[in-house]
Amino acid sequence: MILIYIIFGLYYSFLSIQAVHVSSCAKWNTTGITVIGTNSPGNASNQLYLPQGMFLHRETNTLYIADTNNRRIQMFSLNSAPSMGVTVASNIDSMSAIYVDDDGLTMYVALQYENRVEKWIKNALNGEQIGDQCKQCTGVWLDKEKNIYMTESGTHSILKWSPTTNTKTTIAGRTDELGQTADKLYFPRGIYINRLNDALYVADMMNNRIQKWNRNSQEGITIAGSKDGISGDDNSKLASSSYVWVDEESDIIYIADSDNNRIQRWLPNQLTGTTIAGGAGRGNADNQLSVPNSLAFDNLGNLYVCDGKNHRVQMFLLIDNQTCPTSPTSHSHALFTKITTITLNILMFLSWIILTNSKLN
Ligand SMILES: *[C@@H]1O[C@H](CO)[C@@H](O)[C@H](O)[C@H]1NC(C)=O
Ligand SMILES: *[C@@H]1O[C@H](CO)[C@@H](O)[C@H](O)[C@H]1NC(C)=O
Ligand SMILES: *[C@@H]1O[C@H](CO)[C@@H](O)[C@H](O)[C@H]1NC(C)=O
Repeated sequence: MILIYIIFGLYYSFLSIQAVHVSSCAKWNTTGITVIGTNSPGNASNQLYLPQGMFLHRETNTLYIADTNNRRIQMFSLNSAPSMGVTVASNIDSMSAIYVDDDGLTMYVALQYENRVEKWIKNALNGEQIGDQCKQCTGVWLDKEKNIYMTESGTHSILKWSPTTNTKTTIAGRTDELGQTADKLYFPRGIYINRLNDALYVADMMNNRIQKWNRNSQEGITIAGSKDGISGDDNSKLASSSYVWVDEESDIIYIADSDNNRIQRWLPNQLTGTTIAGGAGRGNADNQLSVPNSLAFDNLGNLYVCDGKNHRVQMFLLIDNQTCPTSPTSHSHALFTKITTITLNILMFLSWIILTNSKLN
């Protein structure tokens, strides 16, 4: 019995040790595979209707889709293909983003026209509002302390809700003031919190740029796109960039560059990005996208894109993960982070063994 626990414990601690990480020179097949959806809207279990958000729960290798116009959350296991969707929540209006907690049971959705974030437990009949109003709510994310971050697009700011103190703070942007200066945002949408350092990444959508706000900072730093908010389709610019995904160790970001119908990779401190998927015009061919709105990577480094206006999810296989000739990240820093994570995991695992043992005796 104890052995079984130990094996499971090792398996889970192994999963949490390895962050999804790919080389900064990695390549994906630009011919995508449709893993969910049929290119036309529908409400069958394998179909979607204008999905607006997606979250990949890595521990279980499961995709959760905010299937917006079907007013439901669909869950798809990536362990078996083709996968049939299972509805885990329904009758939800105007979803624009989804985040799933580590437990794989608790889902948070941003409801744009209902002006709030709701927490849904899998298969519950109702959701529960989290925090105060969130005007034109289009983004949601959690940090490791389970504070809930919300994008209040309607006031051009990001809110942080603490469930322990029941308080709300504005942590990025100036309420009701849109603009291009470093302290402002303009209709932000997707957000991401780096669990290693609590840095906030914002897809500052109408400013066509990605802003990084370090913890407790009053200003953001433009890390992708034009800091003046100018849109464009060359590699130095973005157009209505709606979502950002972060490789927490390397600080490489991946962007749903929605109006350019492409996914851009941007390395730290660079003035240009590179297209890793799409960028072949708006359409539903294998190498095209139509207003992508979110993305994620599985544990093998394959890329998944929620291809909103094509009512589908495209998967782009990782085909080359070779290390670059010169790495832009500091090796010693990456190594230090890794050692810290491994040590923490071993400590947690040991305390868990002791706990289980004392329960069994
Ligand atoms: C990319 O995928 C397509 C379709 O599955 C396949 O025909 C092609 O050989 C792949 N290309 C590479 C470089 O793996
Ligand atoms: C699914 O769509 C069909 C039409 O395509 C419609 O008749 C049916 O009522 C829909 N079902 C639900 C549950 O919305
Ligand atoms: C890709 O290679 C890097 C080393 O550059 C390694 O850390 C990472 O785990 C690899 N990722 C995958 C998905 O194989």
